[in-house]
Amino acid sequence: MTAKLIKGTEIREEILEEIAAEVKEIKEKNGVVPGLVTILVGESPASISYVTLKIKTANRLGFKEIQENQPETISEEDLLALINKYNDDDSIHGILVQLPLPKHIDDKKILNAIDPDKDVDGFHPINVGRLMIGGDEVKFPPCTPAGIQEMIVRAGVETSGAEVVVVGRSNIVGKPIANMMVQKGPGANSTVTVVHTRTRDLASHCKRADILIVAAGVPGLVKPEWIKPGACVIDVGVNRIGEKISEKTGKKIAILSGDVDFDAAKEIAGSITPVPGGVGPMTITMLMKNTLKSLKFRQGIA
Ligand code: GUN
Repeated sequence: MTAKLIKGTEIREEILEEIAAEVKEIKEKNGVVPGLVTILVGESPASISYVTLKIKTANRLGFKEIQENQPETISEEDLLALINKYNDDDSIHGILVQLPLPKHIDDKKILNAIDPDKDVDGFHPINVGRLMIGGDEVKFPPCTPAGIQEMIVRAGVETSGAEVVVVGRSNIVGKPIANMMVQKGPGANSTVTVVHTRTRDLASHCKRADILIVAAGVPGLVKPEWIKPGACVIDVGVNRIGEKISEKTGKKIAILSGDVDFDAAKEIAGSITPVPGGVGPMTITMLMKNTLKSLKFRQGIA
């Protein structure tokens, strides 16, 4: 059997078209567009490439977009002042501080300083709490888990009553996606297990999964024999396992691998996300969706 590929690149285009149409309509009716500020501290190549893509996508959608590139040496105080400036700016609906931050900055302090109503990453404790309560309380689901749920739904995979096994317990992916899938409501109502580095028998849990979500950051962790035949496999891993020269640009690019042995897994799974081109493109897409949502909340049209 060869699994159906759940392509993030295709789903991204569908959602971005929906967002662009809404932005156009709101601009015509209300005379406003979503405003997003991206704050990048330092010059990590991975962070620069993520932020560049966020900016490009925001521009493509007709958002107001501000880039704040700050030196590695910026003080915590100055970074907090920058966040406060945008908390007070009515034309800005989303504030994104790219993580990780340099060691001398307390990232908790920074994330907690963002106005929860502009926290389009969904990392502020108030938004984490809202996510936990579920339903109408949720304002900004964190982007990667929101993208995962959207992919599962758009691939037509039944979630109600499904056994969902999440590998990994990070604050950005594992914990929030487990929380989202267990909620009452469409795209959820699942029975959820979270497994992690201290779990006694990873394989036995994974084998039970109708939907297996892997966010461990360990290349090839999930073996094909751990996959239930016909299962939906969502691979969140983006592991840089080497470098190659791009045929398109002639430049050096990273060779990426997921947490699942894809070539073998696709012969067993019912549906599966590739790496790259699976979950990755969905994160930025959901960031745009949250920024649009923030504008709609402000305008009282959400
Ligand atoms: N660094 C890696 N992933 C993310 C993300 O989703 N949001 C932010 N702000 N930084 C990140």
